[in-house]
Amino acid sequence: MDNRPIGVFDSGLGGLTVVKKLREMLPGEDIVYFGDTQRVPYGGRSKQTLLKYVTQDIRFLLSHDVKMIVAACGTASAVALPHLTDTFDLPVLGVLEEAAKSALSKTKCGKIGVIATSATVKSDAYKNVIQSISPETQVYSKACPLFVPLVENGHLDSEVAHLVAEEYLEDVQDSGADALIMGCTHYPLLRNTIADVLGDGVSLIDVGEAMAKRVKGLLSEMDIASDKQTGGSCRYFVSDEVDNFEALGGLFLQSKIEGMVSKIDIDKY
Ligand code: DGL
Repeated sequence: MDNRPIGVFDSGLGGLTVVKKLREMLPGEDIVYFGDTQRVPYGGRSKQTLLKYVTQDIRFLLSHDVKMIVAACGTASAVALPHLTDTFDLPVLGVLEEAAKSALSKTKCGKIGVIATSATVKSDAYKNVIQSISPETQVYSKACPLFVPLVENGHLDSEVAHLVAEEYLEDVQDSGADALIMGCTHYPLLRNTIADVLGDGVSLIDVGEAMAKRVKGLLSEMDIASDKQTGGSCRYFVSDEVDNFEALGGLFLQSKIEGMVSKIDIDKY
């Protein structure tokens, strides 16, 4: 038993797609969330810069005495996970493997699409994980760099989001994939728009739920679950102004988070 919080981070709002599922599935766990809103987006950064940012993100979470880290960020998971698991002396979970397993359980034709940030696509990490489990599966990857700024600016179901999605998803449709990994945690916030463009023939994989199951499993395996069944708290921290995060985050989580978000100076970590 361990009542310390779980630390979760992303470059901004995207990791809330994982937090939402964690809260549903593990209502007794306390969560500390960090969104690096000052330095979002991560997806176009070099590996060196990303390593620096995510190391600082984790150091900040460690200052809250967390028992586990969830890198609720496809880019950090794709580019930095081995480095992070080597550097830090607590469990650090990334999102790739669970997404790959979910997509493999959904595809019937053996073709999986991956939409993600440029850094993630460049790393080939999703393709490598999928093909390490199922070598014959074909993987088609597409970088969608405008999706993150659309989400961070609240364009979830807007006409402009729809137009951008049509442009990006045309190649995915042409690839014949019948399962699509939303490989950046921001993208499930655009789920309605993406589903609308792709229609019913493509299963959309949002890694939030699979990650929450993985966290639950690991907490029990390691015997570090909270002894509370309900009433877990969630505190949110960002590296820029809180207003936008409070408004959009609250909308997405369907619960008010006003007064629960604090600004921190990430350069101190
Ligand atoms: N949500 C993150 C990801 O899953 C980061 C996106 C970004 O900041 O570019 O990749």
